[in-house]
Amino acid sequence: MTTEPTAADAVGPEQEAVETALVETVVASFDHCPDPRLKEIMVSLTRHLHAFIRNVRLTEQEWAAGIDFLTEAGHITDDVRQEFILLSDTLGASMQTVNVNNVAYADATEATVFGPFFVEDSPRVELGGDVSFGAPGEPCWVEGQVTDTAGKPLAGARIEVWEADEDGLYDVQRDAGRRAARGHLFSDENGEYRFWGLTPTPYPIPDDGPVGKMLAAVGRSPLRTSHLHFMVSHPGARTLVTHIFPEGDPIMWKDSVFGVKESLIKRFEHQPAGTPTPDGRQLKTAWRRVRFDIVLAPAGA
Ligand code: BEZ
Ligand code: FE
Repeated sequence: MTTEPTAADAVGPEQEAVETALVETVVASFDHCPDPRLKEIMVSLTRHLHAFIRNVRLTEQEWAAGIDFLTEAGHITDDVRQEFILLSDTLGASMQTVNVNNVAYADATEATVFGPFFVEDSPRVELGGDVSFGAPGEPCWVEGQVTDTAGKPLAGARIEVWEADEDGLYDVQRDAGRRAARGHLFSDENGEYRFWGLTPTPYPIPDDGPVGKMLAAVGRSPLRTSHLHFMVSHPGARTLVTHIFPEGDPIMWKDSVFGVKESLIKRFEHQPAGTPTPDGRQLKTAWRRVRFDIVLAPAGA
């Protein structure tokens, strides 16, 4: 926590005593919590929450505005819209939780945020298949190898991919039952994989709710840096949830959910119309290609 002087430091000793006594009383209320982990979380949450209220000298109107904000977030949340996760994402809390739970291990590929648009029942495609299923966008050839941190190829790794189309929409945003620009495939005996997808483009996170209002009020954009999502799993390996980001995106470091990591920025090479494709596909338009080698940490790392 900050050690710089705060507004709370300006209060007199008697007021200071009143405020700190309340913190300690609330902390003591958890003394008999039977679950030590729950107790640790509640005590720490209490101390941080009270420190925040005291540091900014929260007014009663501001407290009420915060309650209204959370109430609105609750009202807009349903089975398909999760405003509290969006709030967590835009405050960097989701990304920090990813960091805490995916500690760097050797040269294992770094993780980033999961996001709300993964679905369990993505279509299976064969190696070299096309996951776009008619979604609009520039075709992009994606290939790479899945290995462990000793460099051993991992055959049969399950690779889930999903992305927004060139209009910035996921299939499920157009129609809950639609499946396009997503799919899963398995690495071959050398750990290699390849598929056709779409060149990623930036898109806004849902911003028609209280989180969108918060972003507008603080002068932030709802745009996510262009990305292609991956979830890669293999028995004995730590499941990797990540994205890759095309090099050169002008909003690279302004991602609304703070998901970008340097190691995940990849060159999506432009291929002019007429350039032969790796699999002999006839394309009349320009396309791109990217290589993404994936290193999985051992399970439990
Ligand atoms: C996404 O990448 O799909 C995403 C992540 C966080 C919030 C909204 C969308
Ligand atoms: Fe996304």
